[in-house]
Amino acid sequence: MNNKFIIFGSPDIKQPEIDEVIGSLESGWLGTGPKVKKFEDDFKNYKKVNNAVAVNSCTAALHLSLIALNLKEGDEVITTPMTFCSTVNAIIHVGATPVLADVDPLSMNIDPHKIEEKITSKTKCILPVHFAGRPCKMDKIMELANEHNSYVVEDCAHAVEAIYHEKYAGTFGNFGCFSFYVTKNIVTGEGGMVITNHEKLANRIRQLALHGLSKDAWKRFSDEGFQHYYVEEAGFKYNMMDIQAAIGIHQLKRIEENWLRRQKTWNYYNENFSELPINLPALTEKNTRHAYHLYTVQIDENEAGLTRDEFLVRMNEKNIGTGVHYLSIPEHPYYQKQFGWKSVDYPYAMQIGKQTVSLPLSPKLSDNDIERVVQTVKSILN
Ligand SMILES: Cc1ncc(COP(=O)(O)O)c(C=O)c1O
Repeated sequence: MNNKFIIFGSPDIKQPEIDEVIGSLESGWLGTGPKVKKFEDDFKNYKKVNNAVAVNSCTAALHLSLIALNLKEGDEVITTPMTFCSTVNAIIHVGATPVLADVDPLSMNIDPHKIEEKITSKTKCILPVHFAGRPCKMDKIMELANEHNSYVVEDCAHAVEAIYHEKYAGTFGNFGCFSFYVTKNIVTGEGGMVITNHEKLANRIRQLALHGLSKDAWKRFSDEGFQHYYVEEAGFKYNMMDIQAAIGIHQLKRIEENWLRRQKTWNYYNENFSELPINLPALTEKNTRHAYHLYTVQIDENEAGLTRDEFLVRMNEKNIGTGVHYLSIPEHPYYQKQFGWKSVDYPYAMQIGKQTVSLPLSPKLSDNDIERVVQTVKSILN
């Protein structure tokens, strides 16, 4: 078995992506253009939704979604402590106040009962994250939102393929926001998408993503002739480029194939790790589809005989990359200072943050790579 370093979250880039990018470079059309439009259309059809707007990150998608809902200072947005900082920062950047509701320890997703406890008259939005690709309990979350007249924005950075009770993740709330960062289930380098059934809001997001201009660059520079544009709102530079969409179009074509590959790896890990003194991911709930974005195990020092961080070091020594998703949000000094958050107040997220390790799951892993991960994990823990 060779011993080259296994990169965590290595992107699966194949010849069609490479050819399409070269095509963009040769055409001279690098910026937002026909390939972005095609990627949006393909994504929209895949998710069975009316509108998709491509942007340059999920962070941008979240930020613009919250702006489009007119959230402002004094409004509260309830989200999870088990997420990437970007989810919380997007709330802060619209001037609203993030409020955390702890996760369910098994699913690691935001617990609807904890959401209910945090709802006040200032709650304007609930922002669940489909953690690791496992869909949140959207029936209960939508019920709470409807009862309290609150918006819902779904952070689907991990969850392109996730389905909850026959509906795709990202199609329950007002907006679904996706990431195409290099480690994600669809990769464009950097990239993101907002999906929604509200056409007017989708148009506002499209406009905000390009400085608030009345016409997008594609129309301005197309062979339809010069068109004046006007700034109608102070927007952002969040548009996706054709070079990025060129990659995304072909990634999306292989989405099911890659999902099956990750599912196989996931099941193989489950079978091989069942006797080890670690906690494995919970079973997938009935009538849902897990997007298999992160395979996370929990290392409890008392049971495993070593700490999570020692485990990370040992894996690295064996040339296997791992990830930590995530240190819980209240562990970060900025949020402690700004909001007075303490990690002990969110005990399940805190515990997950201290014990969790994500193992390689990319569809790019060879059978040999997967076997090396399995044998290395077993040798460290046995
Ligand atoms: C849960 C979650 N939300 C948001 C983001 C932000 O995505 P992006 O890097 O595309 O801005 C990430 C990225 O890792 C994420 O994992």
